[in-house]
Amino acid sequence: MKTKKRALITGINGMDGSHLADLLIEKDYEVFGVERRSSVKNRKNTSHLEGKITFLTGDLTDQNSLFRCLKNSNPHEVYNLAAQSFVGESWNTPEQTSDVTGLGALRMLEAIREYGRRLKFYQASTSELYGRMVENPAKETTPFYPRSPYGVAKLYAHWITKNYRESYDMFNVSGILFNHESERRGLEFVTRKISNGVAKISLGLSDHISLGNLDSKRDWGYAPDYVEAMWLMMQQDNPDDFVIATGEAYSIREFLDVAFECVGINNWNQYVRQDPRFMRPAEVDVLRGDYSKAKKELGWEPRTDFKTLVSNMVKSDINFLKE
Ligand code: NAP
Ligand code: GDD
Repeated sequence: MKTKKRALITGINGMDGSHLADLLIEKDYEVFGVERRSSVKNRKNTSHLEGKITFLTGDLTDQNSLFRCLKNSNPHEVYNLAAQSFVGESWNTPEQTSDVTGLGALRMLEAIREYGRRLKFYQASTSELYGRMVENPAKETTPFYPRSPYGVAKLYAHWITKNYRESYDMFNVSGILFNHESERRGLEFVTRKISNGVAKISLGLSDHISLGNLDSKRDWGYAPDYVEAMWLMMQQDNPDDFVIATGEAYSIREFLDVAFECVGINNWNQYVRQDPRFMRPAEVDVLRGDYSKAKKELGWEPRTDFKTLVSNMVKSDINFLKE
């Protein structure tokens, strides 16, 4: 009998962790998900996976706990998706962000070395590495210029992943993923904040949304398309890094246009308030990626366009609130 492939995913209860687990189960993997301990379980995104995957307790700030997760899962593939992932929060907790998002990757790499078996490692790198983009669209060779403590922490994680690949001949890949969203996105990120806010306004539960900078632009894709790119990177014979993006950038205003149109509102001015609390000390004005290397070498392309993404998120929030 053929043994199933085993995958260990950190950040299992996050947006990407849950979508990746869905994909790997479909591909007949045995999936182990790392979650940190909390007094109240946070399995909103993974309740449908209970009984189908094995949850393990581990924390990126505790190397021994990661080692035990490796021992208890004996994985062929490790996906390091856990992080303090909210850019805005990284100015409030820069040390904690650096510890989890930066040093956390090092701890997992050291745990893998200690564990001693050959396996494949995926690091969740980000378009925030490009920050003040020196080339638009950005590709794998574009120089980095992070603009937040989060971006700087991810830069460390990106380089230590590459350094361990070169130092110890490990199969380490970094996916440089541009923004991707889904119905499972955390409520503090701008896309979900808007889809949830628009849903509430359309149902008469709220009369406005408070936002910060409306002029920044992002290259927004759909998370289930992007986790497939993660998996494809891990199926290569040789480890390499890839940009994953759509190649199109839209502003927050354009996101608002489409989201409000979904509920029949063409002029949203009276429903949106700008609040300085949501402005950032340093902004990333625009992010746009060139995914041609992934298209050529992985055969990957985004499948979900901007309008479909936005309307799916708004519809999902309306249904959720009605329930
Ligand atoms: P997310 O929803 O915020 O999920 C992050 C997960 O990390 C959460 O489940 C969180 O657990 C866990 N976590 C936080 N601190 C931890 C710690 N000390 N030990 C163990 N787990 C910890 O993020 P996402 O959007 O799915 O993103 C996945 C990864 O891709 C992140 O590394 C993010 O930085 C990166 N990324 C995301 C995007 C994007 O647009 N989504 C783009 C590029 C890169 P709790 O539930 O306990 O808080
Ligand atoms: N969160 C938030 N809340 N952002 C706002 C708001 C608001 O009320 N108003 C305006 N924005 C603007 C932010 O200033 C930023 O320019 C843009 O909306 C997107 O913010 P987020 O949705 O918080 O995402 P992000 O681009 O900062 O970071 C996400 O994408 C990165 C990849 O580029 C996160 O998923 C990161 O983990 C990821 O690495």
